[in-house]
Amino acid sequence: MLITFEGIDGAGKSTQVTKLKRHLQELGREVLTLREPGGTAVAEHIRDLLLESKHDITPVGELLLFAASRAELVQKVILPALDNGSDVILDRFFDSTTAYQGYGRGLDLELLAGVNRIATFGLNPDITFYLDLTPEDALKRKFSEKSLPLAFESEELDRMENSGLEFYRRVRQGYHAISAEQSDRIVKLDALLTPDEIHRMIVGSLEKRDNRLTGS
Ligand SMILES: Nc1ncnc2c1ncn2[C@@H]1O[C@H](COP(=O)(O)OP(=O)(O)OP(=O)(O)O)[C@@H](O)[C@H]1O
Ligand SMILES: [Mg+2]
Repeated sequence: MLITFEGIDGAGKSTQVTKLKRHLQELGREVLTLREPGGTAVAEHIRDLLLESKHDITPVGELLLFAASRAELVQKVILPALDNGSDVILDRFFDSTTAYQGYGRGLDLELLAGVNRIATFGLNPDITFYLDLTPEDALKRKFSEKSLPLAFESEELDRMENSGLEFYRRVRQGYHAISAEQSDRIVKLDALLTPDEIHRMIVGSLEKRDNRLTGS
């Protein structure tokens, strides 16, 4: 099955991906974890282009670079792994495009849906876990001792993270809209709970959907 994680930077996606991978492996399943953008040689180059702060990229350029990276990953890695019966866990997928480039940057949502369909070859996650966190709480996690205005001028932030608090508020609203529209697929979780509490909720949701995942 294809499981994706979404949420703004610092919401705890990587933490939960690691926990879920271990859990599924303990159930005897083959698990492949990947993070977007990246995952193939070409896609990793695109990742560097997208995240290096020195580049000034137009919103459409950014959209198409993400889409190119995703198409590489889907065709070369994700589809073959799913065909082999592996579970694939993705740290971000096309919902990130809708939230960041659509709601965040203001690109047309229907146009984005078309680009997403091209980049994914129509592949949809079986389930998506959205970790909901305010941008303020995300920054507090990242810069626990610094004040927020200072944090936004930090050189430690990558190009996407330097886009500012208002941008991240729009991205979060976007995630709320997508979660509400697709509540069958997207499970919204409070990212302020502890990592173990969130993990237990994730395992519970998976067990409800697929009785092969109960571990018994
Ligand atoms: N539920 C949680 N409660 C408190 N802190 C957490 C929680 N989950 C993760 N963290 C901490 O918050 C920070 C960000 O977590 P993590 O790297 O998993 O987030 P992420 O969503 O993958 O972020 P990024 O988008 O930057 O990769 C880490 O220092 C992590 O230890
Ligand atoms: Mg991460």
